[in-house]
Amino acid sequence: MYYLNSKHIQSIPRDWNQLALVIEEAVRCMGNEDFAQPVKPYLRYRNLQNRIIAMPAFIGGQINFSGIKWIASFPGNLEKGEKRAHSVSILNEADTGIPRCMINTAIISGIRTAAVTGAVIKKVMEARGTEQKDLVAGMTGFGPIGQLHLEMLQAILGNTLKEVRIFDIRPFDELAGARQTISGVRPVSTFEEASDGVDIFITATVSDKPYFNRPPKPGSLHLNVSLRDYVPDFMDFVDLMIVDDWDEVCREKTDIEMMAIHKGLKKEDTVNLVDVFCNGALDRLDQHEVVMFNPMGMAVFDIAIGAWYYEKAKELAICTILED
Ligand SMILES: NC(=O)c1ccc[n+]([C@@H]2O[C@H](COP(=O)([O-])OP(=O)(O)OC[C@H]3O[C@@H](n4cnc5c(N)ncnc54)[C@H](O)[C@@H]3O)[C@@H](O)[C@H]2O)c1
Repeated sequence: MYYLNSKHIQSIPRDWNQLALVIEEAVRCMGNEDFAQPVKPYLRYRNLQNRIIAMPAFIGGQINFSGIKWIASFPGNLEKGEKRAHSVSILNEADTGIPRCMINTAIISGIRTAAVTGAVIKKVMEARGTEQKDLVAGMTGFGPIGQLHLEMLQAILGNTLKEVRIFDIRPFDELAGARQTISGVRPVSTFEEASDGVDIFITATVSDKPYFNRPPKPGSLHLNVSLRDYVPDFMDFVDLMIVDDWDEVCREKTDIEMMAIHKGLKKEDTVNLVDVFCNGALDRLDQHEVVMFNPMGMAVFDIAIGAWYYEKAKELAICTILED
């Protein structure tokens, strides 16, 4: 069995456009019903802000792997000098169930998350039609997920991206892994400065209560990765509400669940990723319409991205082999 740790994964060059294509391929398999993905259970005990989630899935097509990601989130770890999130994924050969690869690092989960965001950004930009330029992006929360999103944004938008404004409640230069000066990046001191008037806004905080109530720029795209930042009334500004999976995302006190409870948001008011990538949900998107994407995080994408890394690891002979 291949064993890939964070050094292995980090040594494989990240091609964000390719990774976004892997997500598109996985969504197409979902559109063809060539997948299986039970609702994921959350394991909680003692301190209920902690959780460990089991995420099993099968994804067919060219990817053709099943497997599971087992991901722990312990927010208090940051004060102990440990990372918040830790994950182990196992990839099983689809036709035999034989475990072929184990990936022991949460970075794969972050890469999957940013690749999904990247696929949605590409699709929305494509649907808007006109040549995009001088785009301004904003982000709130610059931990590992925020940092991967910045890398993805810069790779996918290239020189159409003029500036990224970043707010974090921790000082920018103290953030793990963050370089103090990043070309095109402006650290700001409030979320308002990060968000007002931007074309693309990404949340990657661990906020436990919503605070984001700013009127968005017409035509902007809001990528609610951390899912607990927007007040329910923000829904009134949104013309197209995208979810990855309604049943997954409308629970666990996410902004979508709060919008459902307080504002009557219903599944039929939203579109999912299969609607977006396979059923033309963006076909009539107007330049001025505000789009919001709310991803709970889907196991099929973890398996798809894991399988991409497994193939790359084989190609580049990067791994440790574990004996049965
Ligand atoms: N939707 C998905 O598919 C998906 C997948 C992975 C992670 N996530 C979510 O992404 C978020 C970020 O993950 P991470 O691993 O980077 O977490 P982290 O805890 O390591 O980092 C979070 C960062 O946000 C900052 N922060 C906290 N509250 C803030 C606030 N109110 N305003 C601005 N900054 C704030 C912290 O200082 C920290 O730098 C988490 O909420 C996680 O659950 C979502």
